[in-house]
Amino acid sequence: MRILAVETSCDDSAVALLEDSSVVAERIHSQSIHSNHGGVVPELASRQHIEILPGLVKEVLSESGTSSLREIDVFAATAGPGLVGSLLVGLSWTKAAAFASGKQFLGINHLSAHLHAHYTGPDSIAFPAVALLVSGGHTCLFIMESWNRAVLLGSTRDDAAGEAFDKTAKLAGLGYPGGEALEKAAIDGNPGNVLLPSPLSDPTLPEFSFSGLKTAVKLQWESGADLADLAASFQKVVVDILVSKLLFQTDRSGAVSVLAAGGVTANNLLRSRLREECAKRGIALFLPDKKHATDNAVMVGRAAYAVIRENPSSSSSLSCNAFSRWSGTTLKPLCCT
Ligand code: KG4
Ligand code: ZN
Repeated sequence: MRILAVETSCDDSAVALLEDSSVVAERIHSQSIHSNHGGVVPELASRQHIEILPGLVKEVLSESGTSSLREIDVFAATAGPGLVGSLLVGLSWTKAAAFASGKQFLGINHLSAHLHAHYTGPDSIAFPAVALLVSGGHTCLFIMESWNRAVLLGSTRDDAAGEAFDKTAKLAGLGYPGGEALEKAAIDGNPGNVLLPSPLSDPTLPEFSFSGLKTAVKLQWESGADLADLAASFQKVVVDILVSKLLFQTDRSGAVSVLAAGGVTANNLLRSRLREECAKRGIALFLPDKKHATDNAVMVGRAAYAVIRENPSSSSSLSCNAFSRWSGTTLKPLCCT
């Protein structure tokens, strides 16, 4: 089954062609235009998607030896949550392509797609699993009973973890997005030299709060804290909170797998702590490779493949609209049935 997947939920334009769950060709274009603004400017992001997307599709089709859209079996695009103007670019293109070639269209939930970065077939992980989704827009814990049923345990009450990385990096003049730059800045730092609070750190609470941490970082920065020490301390506090809450839910639920997804899972400290703790417990850990931790279209294609594997006639209506927020309790890959 040939799946053409499109992702434009924020500031990355991405296209992938998959044969079932295997990647045949993919392109990701990260918009650098926002770095001057210290955050994503939605209007600029939408305009860039319009300019960039057709070229990415052409490259992916040509690399995969696809001469006509009629050779595609399923078209999938992220429907939300995300920036509505950005989402509409990928969603509208994909719906039009599916309609023109008379093929199925699937609108995919972005959060579910991050989890499906790990999907290669129904048995690719053992359930129950606990999933940590940690990105620029979301910080959530889920218990997964199957690929099609991830139940929300809790999420952030204010900023997402990636957002806290970005805001801290911005404060220190490290540009946007700042997660990777802040991680680099932390390499030579000593976290013990700067004391920061650990907000809502009780591991039994499956909720997060990072906005107070941001304020504490600001105060330390303004009183002259060393950048490397501050970055190291900030990173340690965030990683400790994420790992301890994830592990508590894993132990409590008797989960046999831990699945991590989203841009912040590119962070090496988080990756090594998760590897260490899951190995100690004999739990299978699923971490995305770094390229597929941040937004990409492969995860959208794999979510679409999971939907079709479960029910080959599934599709979304062509009136499927973009949406900015997801507020449910059970996360499913398919939107707008
Ligand atoms: O999943 P993603 O690409 O977009 C959303 O769905 O939000 O995640 C982007 C986020 C940004 O906040 C970025 O700073 C963060 O992931 N990030 C990192 C690292 N690489 C990306 N955070 C910490 N350490 C990193 N190495
Ligand atoms: Zn994302």
